[in-house]
Amino acid sequence: MSETRLLPARLYHDQAAFDAEQEAVFERTWQVVGHVSDLPNPGSYIAQKVGRYEVMVVRGQEGELNGIRNACRHRGAVLGTGRGAFETKGIRCLYHGWTYRYDGSFLAAPEARSFDCLDRAGLGLPKIQVDTLMGLVFVNLDLAATPLGEQLAGLEDLAGRYLKGPLEQFGPGLGVHAWDPKWDQGSNWKVLIDNYLEGYHVPTAHPGLTRLYQYQKYTATPHPGFTFFEAPLRDEPSGNRVERAYQKLVRPMPGLSEEDARVWRYALIYPNTMLDLYPDQVNVWRIVPESPNLSHICMSQYRAAGSGVRTKVVQRLNIAINNLVTEEDEGVVVRVQRGSANPGFEFGPLSSREVAVGWFADRLRESLADTGLLGHDVSRT
Ligand code: FES
Ligand SMILES: [Fe+2]
Repeated sequence: MSETRLLPARLYHDQAAFDAEQEAVFERTWQVVGHVSDLPNPGSYIAQKVGRYEVMVVRGQEGELNGIRNACRHRGAVLGTGRGAFETKGIRCLYHGWTYRYDGSFLAAPEARSFDCLDRAGLGLPKIQVDTLMGLVFVNLDLAATPLGEQLAGLEDLAGRYLKGPLEQFGPGLGVHAWDPKWDQGSNWKVLIDNYLEGYHVPTAHPGLTRLYQYQKYTATPHPGFTFFEAPLRDEPSGNRVERAYQKLVRPMPGLSEEDARVWRYALIYPNTMLDLYPDQVNVWRIVPESPNLSHICMSQYRAAGSGVRTKVVQRLNIAINNLVTEEDEGVVVRVQRGSANPGFEFGPLSSREVAVGWFADRLRESLADTGLLGHDVSRT
């Protein structure tokens, strides 16, 4: 059997692998929750699940971001759902009315004297890490994790100008904290990430991208904590009407150069955050595993606030082009999920165009090293 750098195929199908990844991958890595513009005021919050935990980021009175566990210390009700704003001066539980400050510290309980003992200092909401890079807000349940800036050293130079803002969310994405079940894809989350990490499938699976990209110049460059991709666009007009209109009308957002309007760039932040860096908009994606063979696609689209009519037309053209790409990708990832479920199947060799797929497998081996899932395979790293 050919040597592969990919993980054993069973890890793309086993419930045991799914369970172990919750703790070893998702509860120990930086998970994107949104952009600072999604948390405009004191009391603004974003709630989402990270691994097995309900968590929340709340903007405090001084403008700081607080990362806290989202479970009332009384009987466990979640305090915030989705994205919104607490309207009172604190976080108030909708069950019995306990309140907390925006930093998670305990404030009060109705009828406090009805409790034998209320350890106010000990009843705060546990903290989690929160940090921002390029305006993107991330949380991490692991208080000892590598700092975000260290994991992503170098990314700001490559991508920061796309997110300088002020930005606004637009389009059909519900926000990176949420998902629409109709966008769920029937594959393991790692199949989706593997697919994002290589352009080798473009000529076969994506006719539109083949017309738009100078495929020979497509590059994928792994860094320790992220991989960065560049796809220079062709100068010659596409034969497709929508693509041709995009090529003709696209201009760089404020802060981007003319050269930036000639390239589509992407980044994959280990393990499950994807950035599509287009001249006209930035899409932020988070892939959330629901089961070994079902994944949620969470997405926010951002554009420069105050985009003109022409730019809005370009953004619609981009969405039309990339909706098709997403459909095409869904088709192939579902095929991988089915075929790789065959007993005894193992993945084959990787081409030089799939170098980032190997990078991802190596990173996962590090994350999973103590889980017992890899067996003798761990020696491969
Ligand atoms: S569960 Fe929150 S106040 Fe009772
Ligand atoms: Fe694709």
